[in-house]
Parts: sequence; C-alpha cells; structure tokens
Amino acid sequence: MALVEWRDDYRTGIASVDHEHEGLIRILNDLYARQAGKADKQAVADFLGEINAKISAHFALEEKIMRECDYDQYADHKADHERLLDGIRDIMDAFDRGAYVNYDDVLAMHLRDWFTQHFKTRDARLHKMLG
Ligand SMILES: [Fe+2]
Ligand SMILES: [Fe+2]
Repeated sequence: MALVEWRDDYRTGIASVDHEHEGLIRILNDLYARQAGKADKQAVADFLGEINAKISAHFALEEKIMRECDYDQYADHKADHERLLDGIRDIMDAFDRGAYVNYDDVLAMHLRDWFTQHFKTRDARLHKMLG
C-alpha cells in the first residue's frame, strides 16, 4: 500500500508545482516500499540524499514563484520549508552516526504528515492567492 495517495485537494493549479508534488509523493512511496522490504543501510542513505535534493529544488521553485508575485505569507511559508529541511538534515546526521539502526516508519510518517499538512495549507493558499 502506498504511504501517501495523491489527492485532488493537493493540487495547487501551478503546473510545475503540482508536477513536483506528485514526484515527491512517488519518492516517499518508494521509500515506504523499500522499508517494507527491509531495505539495507545504503538504500536508506541513498533515499535520504535523493529526497533532500529533490525537496530543496522544489522549495526553491516555490520560493521563486512567491518572490515574483510578492506573496504576502512568503516568510511563513519559507520558514515551514526550512523546518522540514532542518528535520531531514537532522535525520541524515543521526543516520550517519548509526542512530537509526532500527530504522522504521518514523521518517516516512514524519514526511507524510508534514507533506499532507503543508500541501493542504500553505501550498493550497499560495494557489488561491495566485488564482
Ligand atoms: Fe511549499
Ligand atoms: Fe510544495
């Protein structure tokens, strides 16, 4: 079963953003599937690097769009992006130190909850302001 199902209310109406959101959900589901198959340490490390890079690029895109339209909640939206990136880096550091030996669903759940909340609130509002 997929960890996150794409839902229509995640749609922002900005084609490039929606395309990336769908891609991010695919990566999350891939992680979840790999975990279910008792992924080895290298697979998890690869995933963390990949999600960090893709999410960073995605946030840069949204922040560029927000700056271009003088978005009124830019600072708050950007702060939420940075919270997630900090969280991912903390997890990567912990993983490197061997703190995630019993790697389980924690990371996946953390990301899922963050994503679904962020999509439905901040990203959805961005769409309303632009639309
Ligand atoms: Fe966002
Ligand atoms: Fe987003």
